[in-house]
Amino acid sequence: MIPVKNCEQDRQEIRVWCDGCYDMVHFGHANSLRQAKALGDVLIVGVHTDEEISKHKGPPVFTQEERYKMVKAIKWVDQVVEGAPYVTTLDTLDKYNCDFCVHGDDITVTADGIDTYYMVKKAGRYREVPRTAGVSTTDLVGRMLLLTREHFKRGDKEYSVALEHSSNLGTDSTARSPYTGCSQFLPTTQKIIQFSSGLSPKPTDKVVYVAGAFDLFHVGHLDFLEEAHKQGDFLIVGLHTDLEVNRYKGSNYPIMNLHERVLSVLACKYVHEVVIGAPYSVTSDLMDHFKVQVVCHGLTPTARDADGTDPYLVPKKRGCFKVLNSGNDMTTEDIVQRIIRHRLDYEDRNSRKEQKEMAVVKTLQNAHVKQNGDYNEKMATDAMS
Ligand code: CTP
Ligand code: C5P
Repeated sequence: MIPVKNCEQDRQEIRVWCDGCYDMVHFGHANSLRQAKALGDVLIVGVHTDEEISKHKGPPVFTQEERYKMVKAIKWVDQVVEGAPYVTTLDTLDKYNCDFCVHGDDITVTADGIDTYYMVKKAGRYREVPRTAGVSTTDLVGRMLLLTREHFKRGDKEYSVALEHSSNLGTDSTARSPYTGCSQFLPTTQKIIQFSSGLSPKPTDKVVYVAGAFDLFHVGHLDFLEEAHKQGDFLIVGLHTDLEVNRYKGSNYPIMNLHERVLSVLACKYVHEVVIGAPYSVTSDLMDHFKVQVVCHGLTPTARDADGTDPYLVPKKRGCFKVLNSGNDMTTEDIVQRIIRHRLDYEDRNSRKEQKEMAVVKTLQNAHVKQNGDYNEKMATDAMS
């Protein structure tokens, strides 16, 4: 029999491969997987082990088990391959019957500075999608360490504060990589549409409502949403405004602003709809408007509303309030604590990553200038897109 593996014409379904660390999974990762899925029919995602990441990049913030689970819950992902090799080989693509590999248009190199995609590129089995500007693990770690609320504000200020922060940390603030260097994320309605399920509840659907900050969307949130999803047919997540979250969490919370939190939650396969800036107290109006039948909260404590009332008073009175046990005690604060504990490791990791990228950029730049001299212009355009 003639093998049909890797032959797009002979097989009806196009199988796409992506791989990465997917540490502190954010909507930039989700957006790359969304774009990759759009290039085929089935999306298989390889996730590296902690050992591999430590060797090539530095210690990950999340364990491999946590990272596998987070990627599995992204709605465009069909299968996760645990412990995928750091350098993508043709054998790996063949083993999972994938036609080609997709990656963002940034540079990924091994500890020895080798392009991790050189084999698949050479074989013509590599496609690129634009990286989502303005979000990266590096940027999020920076915000956590900053302990200000500057990231609530939009505009140039965010960029200058991040730069100031990096120079305070002793990293080279003059050499910014066009890939991991912090730039501004510009949320658009288009992006929300791309992430949205586009579904409305059917008249017979049991609508479940949950609300919260869902800041730095993590496995605790995920386990909670999986439980909430099981309580009915259509899950709506209300996201509190940045000012509201700051009222009850204090300090520099939320780390991610409302638009960013919306995209993180929308990327989760258990969520059907999101309320952007939900009232802190679950009101009768809200419940009637969305025909909510069940309201849930996890085992974490519930802060009072600004006027001292219980935010779940209405659903409790209606007898439709449920406390769910997510079986997971991770909190946003735990993540920030992990970062602070390993601060030096992460700072070192981030600056090494950027330096490696800058070295590759310089090499490419020199090669290109020799050929046609318009490299700077191209890099500037790429970095803006
Ligand atoms: N990615 C993206 N946009 C971002 C961040 C990541 O498109 N803002 C893509 C990468 O290009 C890659 C995939 O997500 O195709 C997985 O990347 P991974 O190796 O996990 O992350 P990093 O690129 O290292 O991201 P970070 O800088 O956040 O650590
Ligand atoms: O703290 P935050 O507002 O982000 O939490 C959103 C919801 O997720 C809350 O109902 C909270 O109780 C729940 N949660 C959970 N288990 C965790 C973290 C959050 O059930 N580990």
